[in-house]
Amino acid sequence: MDCNPLYEDHVRRISAATAEALRGAAQDGPTFEGIVFHAGSARYYHADDQAIPFRSVFHFRRFVPQEGPDHLLLFRPGARLRLVRVIPRDFWYEPPVEIAHPFLEQLDVAEVASAAAAAEQLGPLGRHAYVGNDPAVAEALGIGREAVEPRPLLARLDWARAYKTPYEVACMREAAQWAARGHRAVREGMAERRSERELHAAYLAAAGALEFDSPFGNIIGWDRNAAVLHYQSKSSARPLPGLTLLVDAGASFLGYASDVTRTYAASGAHPAFCEALDGMDRLELELASELRPGASYLELHRRAHRGVARILREIGVLRVGEDEALERKLTLPFFPHGLGHHLGLQVHDVGGRQAAPDGTLVPPPEDFPALRTTRPVEAGQVITVEPGLYFIPLLLEPLRAGPHCSDVDWELVDALTPHGGIRVEDDILVTADGPENLTRPLIPRH
Ligand code: GLY
Ligand code: MN
Repeated sequence: MDCNPLYEDHVRRISAATAEALRGAAQDGPTFEGIVFHAGSARYYHADDQAIPFRSVFHFRRFVPQEGPDHLLLFRPGARLRLVRVIPRDFWYEPPVEIAHPFLEQLDVAEVASAAAAAEQLGPLGRHAYVGNDPAVAEALGIGREAVEPRPLLARLDWARAYKTPYEVACMREAAQWAARGHRAVREGMAERRSERELHAAYLAAAGALEFDSPFGNIIGWDRNAAVLHYQSKSSARPLPGLTLLVDAGASFLGYASDVTRTYAASGAHPAFCEALDGMDRLELELASELRPGASYLELHRRAHRGVARILREIGVLRVGEDEALERKLTLPFFPHGLGHHLGLQVHDVGGRQAAPDGTLVPPPEDFPALRTTRPVEAGQVITVEPGLYFIPLLLEPLRAGPHCSDVDWELVDALTPHGGIRVEDDILVTADGPENLTRPLIPRH
């Protein structure tokens, strides 16, 4: 990827969006001359000298892929961006890693050795807003509490994050490539029936990643573990019985994420499970192909439930048709999460439930409290599509004990429960011409 012109264009676009956010925020709150974006202060484990692995404040990171804590970036509409980098003179730990990237050429850059010196270099900055994780740093800059992440401004900045620039899309394509290498390695390891822990290590090695480089903890679960939505343990035991494997894992490139899930059935898996897996794969592709400007994500989520009802009926788990199943809410325990989420600097990117830049929210309907995406679908957004179908005893018990118990073939459910569940997930770029699946061509199903 040729970073230079893309990054230059990125800075231009997000500077314009940030200036617009400042203008808009002034209608609902105080007026600010500019914004200080803080990379963030490092945090430590309680009563310990070990730092919690550091991640930059994402609004800072959107401007500059500068690693490490404490840096300050000053944004003022119409002015060149000023970055004060904090590079400690240290011999216990190395300074933040320098990456091959042209960002320093685009900014006015100063370098200091401490957070205090950075604040001194920029401050005092009354009439500026502070975006970051440490109000004490705002105070050191002469910025009052009321200007720390003021809601009218933050809502607008969050809103703007959903519109990915061509630079961001290029980063996400690269993150998809790295994830593809990891997924391939897991697929190969599955054939050898390797443990979850071994598969995880193989994934990281192939994706060229250290544990913390991943945008979220890899979810790699054999059998019943596939039914734990955010399963993290990674057993070192050989799989038993080794019928199914669910892999939900991404990669990160210059801070931008990919997030892909594949579910595989091994020989010996129940035919009804294999049929459900085929059906879920088709359903996911069908829903992904509908993600175009003007589409309602909530409507797609409802269609996902209808699809799950159809599949459960086809394999014989449900004894009632789609309409009755939906009316009786029978799919809710089988598909308890949302259809997907915005993706970008964060795996669950911000602003998915906003109705408008001013921060007005569109809460999900009561039946779908976990749905993260309710805002209008528009060109430039990257959204995941990840329908699921699981056999989770905790969620199925009330159905088994309830008035609709006889709508379900429990013998079949019991036979399928050791298979855990199914999730299929791809990352979709919404364009004016329709959806582009960023991950499926790189990570085919088989
Ligand atoms: N990939 C994890 C999630 O979307 O929650
Ligand atoms: Mn996801």
